Amino acid sequence: MAIQIPRGTQDILPGDVETWQWIEQKAYDLCRRYNYQEIRVPMFEHTELFLRGVGDTTDIVQKEMYTFEDRGGRSLTLRPEGTASVTRAYVSNKLYGQANQPTKLFYIGPMFRYERPQSGRMRQFVQFGVEALGSADPAIDAEVLALVMRFYEELGLKNLKLVINSLGDTDSRLAHREALVNHFKPRIHEFCNDCQDRLEKNPLRILDCKKDRDHELMGTAPSIHDYLSPESKAYFEKVQSYLTALNIPFVVDATLVRGLDYYNHTAFEVMVDGEAFGAITTLCGGGRYNGLVEEIGGPETPGIGFALSIERAIMALEAQQAKPAHNQAIDCYVVTLGEAAKDKGVELVYQLRNAGISAEKDYLDRKMKGQLKAADRLHAKWTVILGEDELAVGKVNVKNMETGEQTDVALTDLVSHMKQQVEGGNES
Ligand code: HAM
Repeated sequence: MAIQIPRGTQDILPGDVETWQWIEQKAYDLCRRYNYQEIRVPMFEHTELFLRGVGDTTDIVQKEMYTFEDRGGRSLTLRPEGTASVTRAYVSNKLYGQANQPTKLFYIGPMFRYERPQSGRMRQFVQFGVEALGSADPAIDAEVLALVMRFYEELGLKNLKLVINSLGDTDSRLAHREALVNHFKPRIHEFCNDCQDRLEKNPLRILDCKKDRDHELMGTAPSIHDYLSPESKAYFEKVQSYLTALNIPFVVDATLVRGLDYYNHTAFEVMVDGEAFGAITTLCGGGRYNGLVEEIGGPETPGIGFALSIERAIMALEAQQAKPAHNQAIDCYVVTLGEAAKDKGVELVYQLRNAGISAEKDYLDRKMKGQLKAADRLHAKWTVILGEDELAVGKVNVKNMETGEQTDVALTDLVSHMKQQVEGGNES
């Protein structure tokens, strides 16, 4: 029996991979303009990092990690997200000591979560994320939000909704936490086992429970906004005023809590509207995580970032029929007839390629007709035909496949001739 691909993973084949490259290019370009630099961190880390970083009461840590023991008996985990790893790298490499501050980083790479696979929920997925470490200025919150909204805009996505909330500082959170415990405790037996567990450990997460979402106590739960300290309130207002100044529409939702433990102050999600998109409408999530660097053993450092999956961005583009077509045409197909011409063809494609021209030839001993068909399938812009006769007089026949125009070119001039054609074609 043929071996199957693991559940929740996918092969990205030629034809689809061009969309990925296009999206990644947009991310690189945007990060260059916003001055975020790329960081590449390992695909696996010590399990301890995620227990401390992501939080041991979260779904990710409790149910979704790919954790294994290596041959040396260490517990390692395939990274379920990037923030903990980037923060760890920031501490390990003492990036806080660098002259350029804040430290503004981005990453694009696979993450792994043992989730129930469904549309838009994979076990291996690729996140594009940014993390800005070392500034507690609300202007950087606005910058991170501007970057992600601009990213989707440049992809051509519409009907996006930016939802923001403030989870407040430590004092605000403690006061809110106590109010939540008092609110849920008398009737906690009516809630699922997970929520009963969360009551003491992390009552905020009860608000995010999918099973108990319709319980009447959910709607009447104390709002974080009633417990925000004056500083937290002022911070959140400043973030909002920057967004307004930048003309970035947003809605405030006091129930947005996010599924990871490290957040405080600004938390946000980007959603997409539309029936066609199915059940999953969250494209991106992020927020501020002052305190995470310390948790991981570094100096007190504020941080904020987001992550989004490229899979969901592509799904949204498909749902909105906004996925661009990618031109995969090659420049030149070299058709040869006879043994001597075939050998010369090997040299010709080599020379053309070295000169920056994309070139292909036949490797299946096809007849002339078959070679022309292959050229057609590759949407070759030119075919170069080399037969025994042409070879004898040191010439090739070059055909422009779009106009049908044919020219004889000296073999020794072929590369410079094709360069001119290709460059001229690219200018028009
Ligand atoms: P998250 O909300 O867990 O946050 O994930 C962020 C985004 O990753 C989601 O909005 C979604 O686009 C994508 N995603 C998550 N799980 C899956 C999945 N199973 N399949 C496909 N896509 C998925 C974080 O990961 C935080 N590290 C974000 C952050 C960065 N906060 C601050 N900095």
